[in-house]
Amino acid sequence: MPSLKHLPADAPAAEIATILDSDGALVLDDVLDAAGLAGVRAEIDPYIEATGNGRDAFAGLQTTRTGALIARSPACRELVMHPAILAACDAFLNRACDRYQLHLTQVIRIRPGQPKQPLHRDRLAWGGFLPASIEPQLNTIWAMTDFTEANGATQVVPGSPAWPESRRAEPHEVGYAEMKAGSVLVYSGSVIHAGGENRTDADRIGINLTYCLGWLRQEENQYLSCPPAIARTLDPKLQALLGYAMGGYALGYFSPPLPPGQGPEVVPPQAALGEALATSWGGEDLQDAIIERLRAKLAAAEVAAT
Ligand SMILES: [Fe+2]
Repeated sequence: MPSLKHLPADAPAAEIATILDSDGALVLDDVLDAAGLAGVRAEIDPYIEATGNGRDAFAGLQTTRTGALIARSPACRELVMHPAILAACDAFLNRACDRYQLHLTQVIRIRPGQPKQPLHRDRLAWGGFLPASIEPQLNTIWAMTDFTEANGATQVVPGSPAWPESRRAEPHEVGYAEMKAGSVLVYSGSVIHAGGENRTDADRIGINLTYCLGWLRQEENQYLSCPPAIARTLDPKLQALLGYAMGGYALGYFSPPLPPGQGPEVVPPQAALGEALATSWGGEDLQDAIIERLRAKLAAAEVAAT
């Protein structure tokens, strides 16, 4: 049975990105201590308890999935903004976008009796239309309980990001993301994986926080799960991660639906949070970077054409 690489919580982002490219997954050990775990659990447990089982076999008929964690849990905001994870996102996702964004926030509780989830790649959320050369996601599962092979530790197939679409994993190629509570499974959108079977009599609880390229649609609609009335109270960097910032030169603006002449015609998304309208698009640096990249592309195309 293959095993996943384990790195310390302060591992360099470049090393994480390299392993994600080759293996598709790794574990960061001991990112949260006992006090940190208790703080998160105190905020999310009432929501977990109130959540019913999944609607089908894929979601899990003995599995609960609880979302809107940015709006509901300040402690989860800290997890989303954890410097080590954001540094890994910088290294892994910024190769294919100008800005990445929050894709999904979800507590996954695998209850006793839940069988194995079917193996899959998370990038299928976009329907299989993305070319294999584009890696769209960096995903995390924060272990709130110990993860063991017996209680439903995530199944992972190391090395599978490079596999052709048609290749299926043999049982001996499937490993398990066994880790202590407070550790974090980091995996790409292209690695084959699935929830495990829980053969114990206790819940296995993990928090799935995922990030994707800023030009793709988010799995969890962050504008609805965390509407402007809540988003305006958050750290500006977290607001931008949710999508309340331009995702590119022309991605994300809106026109306030006001009567003729009663407001600006086009504003960046953070204007919905009550900031001074259109004083800044919050993307001047972004714009410079895009223009620079397009110039370089054009120059390379001209060289290739001569
Ligand atoms: Fe998945």
